[in-house]
Amino acid sequence: MIVTRTRSELAQALGDVRVGGASLALVPTMGHLHRGHLSLVDQAAEYGDVVAVSIFVNPLQFGPSEDLEQYPRDEARDLTLLGERNVGLVFLPSDSEMYPDGEPRVTVSAGPLESRLCGAFRPGHFRGVLTVVGKLFGLLRPDVAVFGRKDLQQAILIRRMVHDLNMGVRVELGDIVREADGLAMSSRNVYLRPEERKQATALSAALFASKRLYAAGERRAATLLAEIDRHVVDHDLVELQYAEAVDPETLEPVETVSRGAVLALAAFCGATRLIDNVVL
Ligand code: PAJ
Repeated sequence: MIVTRTRSELAQALGDVRVGGASLALVPTMGHLHRGHLSLVDQAAEYGDVVAVSIFVNPLQFGPSEDLEQYPRDEARDLTLLGERNVGLVFLPSDSEMYPDGEPRVTVSAGPLESRLCGAFRPGHFRGVLTVVGKLFGLLRPDVAVFGRKDLQQAILIRRMVHDLNMGVRVELGDIVREADGLAMSSRNVYLRPEERKQATALSAALFASKRLYAAGERRAATLLAEIDRHVVDHDLVELQYAEAVDPETLEPVETVSRGAVLALAAFCGATRLIDNVVL
């Protein structure tokens, strides 16, 4: 496993690993890796001859009152976990390596989808995500890139970016990996206090209960969303920011759900913002 920190080290390593036309599958991350990330790494090994993982806590996607400073970082542990897997290349740039001129003047706008779901509550977030992912695509030139369905809006926007800007990267998605009690894995789960951690299971429980109603024949979005509310309401440490039933492509709300529609939510659990979704 080659670990690179600068653009020039990366360029040299890419030359080495791509000798003979080997294909490259990239998994972009912000580190503090958990089984969700690692499942994407394993999936990437099916798509490319060489798997590359980037670890970069991207300041551009954090709002001024968000958790950039506290965001958990553990480089040594991340490298150990990746070293145990089929990873050929790791890119671990510093802020100044990624943004040598400071904040970039030209960025990638998410367009109308920017204001949907999480975008409505995190202004500029998806612009930051798309800009850094665009830069990573430019630096690594992967054939395939793998993203998780846990951040579904992000994954959909990246697919759109690649399509609309002809970036020529195949975008593959991996399923949500959960803790045994249903909580979607997230680097931010470490913020949860013990009582918050217990109550956080209400989110996935609510989504699963709503999905069971759908399976039993319910098609009215309002009823499915009321079921989510009903499960969350008696958890005093959990506060829904939004729960919506949306079309999987446009992310527009739907009144009547059909197969493939998504129930997506964001909630504060104490001071920690968590997201989750299920596909019907
Ligand atoms: P990060 O939150 O570290 O997530 C990296 C990748 O892991 C994303 O594609 C995310 O959807 C996926 N992931 C996270 N939790 C998961 C889970 N429980 N199951 C499956 N996949 C999961 O998402 C980002 O970083 C950043 O926005 C990034 C794309 C790297 C750009 O900075």
